[in-house]
Amino acid sequence: MYEGLKHAHSGLRWIFLVLILYTVINAFIKWRNGADYTESDRKAGLFTFIFSHIQLLLGLGLYFISPKVGTISGAVMKEPVARFFTVEHAMMMILGIIVISIGYSKAKKAIGGTQKFKTTFIFFAIGLLLILSRIPWPFQQYGASWF
Ligand code: HEM
Repeated sequence: MYEGLKHAHSGLRWIFLVLILYTVINAFIKWRNGADYTESDRKAGLFTFIFSHIQLLLGLGLYFISPKVGTISGAVMKEPVARFFTVEHAMMMILGIIVISIGYSKAKKAIGGTQKFKTTFIFFAIGLLLILSRIPWPFQQYGASWF
């Protein structure tokens, strides 16, 4: 159960990262070029939003069973790996997903392609930066893997 969730959460990060990178770059280029907003642009935002929420659900599941997560306490805050997963990773990912969700909803309500692309670009780019700042990579000390 734990290993399965961990591998799903680790592997799906790549699908999420490809989707959000595509959505951010696509929105920026089309915003600057004044392009029309099409069904494929809407779907790029939608799938990024969906995958961020799948990661949220898997992450919440892991939060309760992972041996790397502890109860927030002085001892946990003094231990870098426990502090990272108990506080830093979880908080920053949730914040990033909230920003993406607000951007998705605002872009949906925005009128006209320029406003939709601009809103998508700003919110999704901020969400991406927040998430990139606290993803655990194998070359760091957190014992994460590539997949
Ligand atoms: C877009 C959002 C997220 C991404 C891209 C992401 C990415 C990752 C990655 C790459 C790992 C390392 C997995 C490995 O060991 O190879 C990880 C671990 C973990 N994540 Fe996330 N995560 C996200 C959201 C969340 C959220 C919202 C939570 C909890 C509220 C969470 C909780 C955890 C926990 C507890 C682990 C440690 C698993 C373990 O090794 O025991 N994640 N995450």
